[in-house]
Amino acid sequence: MTRATSTFRIAPSILSADFARLGEEVQTVIAAGADWIHFDVMDNHYVPNLTFGPMVCQALKPHAKTASGQAVPIDVHLMVSPVDALASAFAQAGADLISFHPDACDHVHRSIQAIKSHGVKAGLVFNPAEPLDVLEWTIDDIDLILIMSVNPGFGGQSFIDSALRKIEKVRKLIDASGRDVRLEVDGGIKVDNIRRVAEAGADTFVAGSAIFGKPDYKAVIDQMRSALP
Ligand code: DX5
Ligand code: ZN
Repeated sequence: MTRATSTFRIAPSILSADFARLGEEVQTVIAAGADWIHFDVMDNHYVPNLTFGPMVCQALKPHAKTASGQAVPIDVHLMVSPVDALASAFAQAGADLISFHPDACDHVHRSIQAIKSHGVKAGLVFNPAEPLDVLEWTIDDIDLILIMSVNPGFGGQSFIDSALRKIEKVRKLIDASGRDVRLEVDGGIKVDNIRRVAEAGADTFVAGSAIFGKPDYKAVIDQMRSALP
C-alpha cells in the first residue's frame, strides 16, 4: 500500500551539512522544502563515530522554522548507549521527536515513557539485521518507526535492499495496529530509489548526502517529491 503524497515527509540529515555553518544550512534546507530536520547523534560507543549533542540541538532550534515563522520538527535519531539521560537532555533542548535503538538500552518501554513524559514523540529504530519482535509489545506506545537501510554510523553508504522487505512488514504491523505511526527510512535514499521505498510502505525519508552533497538542495528535494507515487 502506498501513502497519499500529502502525507510524505522529507527529512534532510544535517550529518552531511557543513558543520561550520549549521544554522545557515538548516535555514537553507528548510527554504528548499525540508519537512523535518533529521539530527544524527553518535556517541563513539554504540556507533564508531561522534557527532553532536543537546547543546547543538538547542542552538539550532531557533533556526528550525520557515521564513513565515512556522516551526519545522527536529527529528533526533539517537545512536547512543545508554539512552535515557541523553533522551531527556534532547527533549529539554527542543527535540520534537526522539528515536532510539532498542538494542542500545536496557528497558525499552521505560525509555519510551521517559521520552513521552516530556511531551515529545517517541520512535524506535531498527538496524538492518535487527528483528522487529519488540514492536509486538511497543507499537501502541510509539509515534514513529525508523528502519535503517544502512548500518548506522556514517553518511553516504549504499541502500541495503533487504530493508524493503522489512518496510513492507512494518507497514502491515502499523496498518493492523490502526494507529497513526510514521514509517521513516534512513540510509542511502536518493532520487532514484525513493519511489521504491515509498511503494514498500514508507512515508518519511531521511536523506543526507543526496541533498547536502549537491549545490542546489531545492532541486534535489523537488526531484524526490516528484519521484514519489
Ligand atoms: C547514518 C545516519 C543517517 C545518515 C544518512 O547512521 O543515521 O541519517 O545521515 O546519510 P545518507 O542519506 O547519506 O545515507
Ligand atoms: Zn539517522
